[in-house]
Amino acid sequence: MVSPSPLRRVAVFAAAILSPLAVFAASPHEGDPAAGKVMYTECAGCHAFNVNKVGPKHCGVVGRKAGSLPDFANYSEAITESKLVWNEKNLNAFLADPMGFLPDTTMQYAGVPDEESRLDLIAYLKQMSADPKVCPKGK
Ligand code: HEC
Repeated sequence: MVSPSPLRRVAVFAAAILSPLAVFAASPHEGDPAAGKVMYTECAGCHAFNVNKVGPKHCGVVGRKAGSLPDFANYSEAITESKLVWNEKNLNAFLADPMGFLPDTTMQYAGVPDEESRLDLIAYLKQMSADPKVCPKGK
């Protein structure tokens, strides 16, 4: 058997060192709340964080059961009977295509086609919910 050439050994060694970096580079986009804030202008006509508008308030929405705010009177049955929890996966799918994901929702909004922008928005929803100046009890 021929032993691996020194050059080849160096290459294998380099690959072992660099592969974690490759994994890092390939990891999914981490939401950027600053970019999400800009995207939120799309939502702000109907939503705010700490008051209900046409749509329910967004304080604490990440992790909340869908359609569960006691003081928002205008939920559709589509949402209250969905048994969904607004985890990141469900929010991502809903925001991509609200009326496709939840037919009969009253959220008359076409959605955010770009996944990075959706992750940015979710990061912003989380950041604002954690800010006691905006969402005093995180809710
Ligand atoms: C045209 C008005 C309108 C726009 C624009 C809009 N929404 Fe909504 N949204 C609503 C309404 C109305 C509901 C309640 C839906 C229902 O009951 O079916 C809702 C519900 C939601 C819910 C579920 C909340 C809960 O308590 O279950 C989330 C999350 C949400 N919207 C996020 C967003 C985000 C993020 C944007 C911007 C990208 C956005 N919405 C844009 C009107 C809107």
